Amino acid sequence: MPQWIKVTAEDAFDGNVHVFEHEGWPIAVYRLEDGYFAIDDTCSHEEASLSEGEIEDGKIECPLHGAQFDIRTGKNLTLPAVLPVRNYPVKVENGDIFVKVS
Ligand code: FES
Repeated sequence: MPQWIKVTAEDAFDGNVHVFEHEGWPIAVYRLEDGYFAIDDTCSHEEASLSEGEIEDGKIECPLHGAQFDIRTGKNLTLPAVLPVRNYPVKVENGDIFVKVS
C-alpha cells in the first residue's frame, strides 16, 4: 500500500543528500536546483551506497565502479550498471519533505 513518509524538515536537510531507511531499505533524497528527488540508495550493479558518490549535473556516480544514474529518474546512464534504480515521488508540505513509498 503506497504511503507518504515524512523524511525530514527542509530546515534540517544538510548538504545535497539525505538518506533514510524504509523497512530496512535505504532511500536517498537529493536536493537539486529544481527540487527534491528520491531514488534507491543501493546501486543496481552491486552493493554500494550511491549517495557516497559524486553529484554532477543531476547525476550521481557510484563510488564503487563509477556507473552513473540520473537522480531525477533513477535511470542507469553508464556501465557497468545495466539496470535503473527505483525512483520515488517527493513532495514538500509545510516545510517537511515526504517520500511516497510502497
Ligand atoms: S556497485 Fe555501483 S557500479 Fe558497481
